[in-house]
Amino acid sequence: MCGIVGYIGKRNAYPILIKGLKRLEYRGYDSAGIALLNSKNELNVYKTKGKVSNLEHFAKDKDCNGTIGIAHTRWATHGEPNQINAHPHYSESKNIALIHNGIIENYADLKENLTRKGIHFQSNTDTEVIVQLIEYLLQKNDTDLLTAVQLALSHVVGAYAIAVIDRNNPDVIVAARKSSPLVVGIGDDEFFIASDASPIVEYTKKMVFIDNEEVAYIKRGEELKIVNLNNVEIKPEIEEVMLDIGQLEKGGYEHFMLKEIFEQPACIENCMKGRVNIAHDSIKLSALIDFHDKLVGAKRIIILACGTSWHSGMIGKYLFETYCKIPVEVEYASEFRYRSNVVGENDVVIAVSQSGETADTLAAVELAKEKGAFVYGICNSVGSSIPRATHTGSYIHVGPEIGVASTKAFSGQVTVLVMLALALAKSKNAISDKDYFEIIAELAKIPEKMKKVLQMNEKIADLAKIFTYAHNFIYLGRGYCFPVALEGALKLKEISYIHAEGYPAAEMKHGPIALIDDEMPVVVIATQNALYEKVVSNMQEVKARKGRIIALISEGDEKIKDIANFCIEVPQTLECLEPLITTIPLQLLAYHIAVCKGKNVDQPRNLAKSVTVE
Ligand code: AGP
Repeated sequence: MCGIVGYIGKRNAYPILIKGLKRLEYRGYDSAGIALLNSKNELNVYKTKGKVSNLEHFAKDKDCNGTIGIAHTRWATHGEPNQINAHPHYSESKNIALIHNGIIENYADLKENLTRKGIHFQSNTDTEVIVQLIEYLLQKNDTDLLTAVQLALSHVVGAYAIAVIDRNNPDVIVAARKSSPLVVGIGDDEFFIASDASPIVEYTKKMVFIDNEEVAYIKRGEELKIVNLNNVEIKPEIEEVMLDIGQLEKGGYEHFMLKEIFEQPACIENCMKGRVNIAHDSIKLSALIDFHDKLVGAKRIIILACGTSWHSGMIGKYLFETYCKIPVEVEYASEFRYRSNVVGENDVVIAVSQSGETADTLAAVELAKEKGAFVYGICNSVGSSIPRATHTGSYIHVGPEIGVASTKAFSGQVTVLVMLALALAKSKNAISDKDYFEIIAELAKIPEKMKKVLQMNEKIADLAKIFTYAHNFIYLGRGYCFPVALEGALKLKEISYIHAEGYPAAEMKHGPIALIDDEMPVVVIATQNALYEKVVSNMQEVKARKGRIIALISEGDEKIKDIANFCIEVPQTLECLEPLITTIPLQLLAYHIAVCKGKNVDQPRNLAKSVTVE
């Protein structure tokens, strides 16, 4: 998705903006650009297709002076990725430059109206319409920049996070948002704006998360001013964002993804901190305390998510139904929002999202709220749109996840779902003390067991070499490990570009077994739990057809070693906690196969870290 960065203050803006764009590269993009106002109030705009490094190369012998500027990484939605369509976009007079993240749904009508008024467009983008409309309104109404922006946005339908600079107002940046994220950092006589905290946090931890249809008026030497589209002033809520810059660096790992896979033990400890109290055998989630009756009274739980978050949501289904005895539906947010669904005040909707900005999940949350449901968010990005849209929720606290392929966030989501299911089951007296205390005690051991699994990294790297040239994979699991099979397949698909499918192991007989031959690697999660014997017989069916089996087995299991071609031993744990253990080898397998294939592991082709458009 697009990334936005802006600066106004006492320092040269260029290096701050370029470094900020690089911190946002993980969001995925295909072009980049920068606009700078120098001391002579000349507006210099440079933009190139491809990586930020291309922009730097293009700008290296040009005038990059100025203490005010905006910069952008674009993930194309309207108009192909090229220099003309890259942001910033100029107004016709070239006095105003604008950057935008989002989609303007009524841009065609607006463009037609402006064209009829004699305005000439340079690009095929929806974004250019905004900057042309601002200038048109500025001139037509003989008004100031802030008012022109407010007026323009009142005509716009869609999602936006924008920043605007004007050579006739050289001490001002105007920024605004609706649905797409925007943060203002408050420094010492300087301000920063960005799509999230990562480009800002090394300069200041004081941040304001801009809300929907709010406009930030940032003027050199003055306090930050926030108004809505009707010019009603809103008191800025300044938050201290405790993000460690080290977390944004690779920490010695070759890729962010590998770093984040190895961070999981520490992340899960962090996720449980202050919530799981081993000494008192209890779990405390503030959201459940604050909204106890709403959650305990749920007649049904609907889990809304996309991608990996949908997979962790599926594990939530098994947890809530098993321990809370509440029926659960897990919905792809994109389907839920467009289907005529039956949702009401007896429903608790749980929205799961790492970024907190996934457009379909956010829209589904808004729809569920309109229909009277109580909405609970499970997110990672503090202050992002989904947590701000829900009635309450729990952050997973795994730190920024930079790799596009989600790993530690999955584990964090599952951990919060385990804690919520246990605490809710306890509140409803739906779980026995034995089960409750046994699961809490085992949950506390998971980080150490994760560390043990991570010791298999080299073995899995060797195994990956054998499968580098496979064209297809099948992943099989049952019960809590069926969603793990889905997640393992997604990991492989999205970073190695090898086609992979996850299935409930028993489903093989209903068609997929026709795919099995000696060319087809089959990953089977065959840990020793209640369904073990059934999984073993599924493996026999695959073996009989010469499928090449990679089996995840419990430590010490000798039986499966005679059936599988390759075995990865993992520590035994309770069935409901197995996803926290069995997903890690699949993350490592996908990672190493992708590395063997020379793929861009952290920024796979076509993918973005946060899908903030439909
Ligand atoms: C997972 O590896 C993918 N990057 C993708 O499926 C992701 O999980 C999905 O886009 C949902 O993102 P969210 O959790 O930020 O809402």
